[in-house]
Amino acid sequence: MESPSWAPVEVDVDRPSAARVYDYYLGGSHNFAVDREMARLAVGLWPDLPQIMQANRAFLRRAVRYLASQGITQFLDIGSGIPTVGNVHEVAQAAAPDARVVYVDIDPVAVAHSRAILVGDDRTDVVHADLRDVESVLGDSRTARLLDLSRPVGVLMVALLHFVPAEANPAGLLARYRAAMAPGSYLVVSHATHEGQPDEAGEHTALYQRTGTPMTMRSRAEVDGLFDGFDLVAPGVVFLPSWRPEPGALPDAHPERYSGFAAVGRRR
Ligand SMILES: C[S@@+](CC[C@H](N)C(=O)[O-])C[C@H]1O[C@@H](n2cnc3c(N)ncnc32)[C@H](O)[C@@H]1O
Repeated sequence: MESPSWAPVEVDVDRPSAARVYDYYLGGSHNFAVDREMARLAVGLWPDLPQIMQANRAFLRRAVRYLASQGITQFLDIGSGIPTVGNVHEVAQAAAPDARVVYVDIDPVAVAHSRAILVGDDRTDVVHADLRDVESVLGDSRTARLLDLSRPVGVLMVALLHFVPAEANPAGLLARYRAAMAPGSYLVVSHATHEGQPDEAGEHTALYQRTGTPMTMRSRAEVDGLFDGFDLVAPGVVFLPSWRPEPGALPDAHPERYSGFAAVGRRR
């Protein structure tokens, strides 16, 4: 397939990418035929998927507002994805106009599109790096320019860590990020799980073997274990819609239908 003009040259247009498939679920336009085909297959198997992705984005927005309410004005959003409605810098800057945001993603389309929309915003930048290469993320000159890691920072890993297999030692990676975070910093995580809808989650995991970033679902206890060295903010590790719903929102009768856990921890 021919590559469209907005796609960076190194993009593989014949293999679905998690970032572009997610963009399609959310109604974006930075995806290719191969991504749409996989997304349609996935939704055919699991019709709740678009709603699950929307619930994930809604959690991200609530968590950023919560962090801003706690005085956080600098954010490191790792696995930030292709920009869509309600991006972290928009939500953060609405709450705190001087908020600074560094986006990080492994996907070249996510990075190129983020750079394009951020032209002229000198409080926001984008790093093309792999979460697992901690030095490339934290040592990048853009990170150093915008974030003062001697002060509390909000580190976001939203719908990201299920792309990190056990062999890559997610707990070890998190320990390295934690070591760079000042006390009073926050870690925001959402994570896909097989708890809730195990059959659909199993089929979904199998489909993602087609991408460059296969998935590993984790249990509530495993997600809880990612917060070593952090105090979990109430209500702890819960299904996506149950994490501090908007005031006045009706409680979801079946939050387990969303098959993703959400949690926020404060660095001790
Ligand atoms: C499902 S999207 C989530 C986007 C955004 N955080 C959100 O929740 O709306 C996951 C993102 O993680 C990125 N990703 C996957 N593995 C990564 C890695 N090892 N390092 C950095 N980014 C990664 C993908 O490219 C994709 O953009």
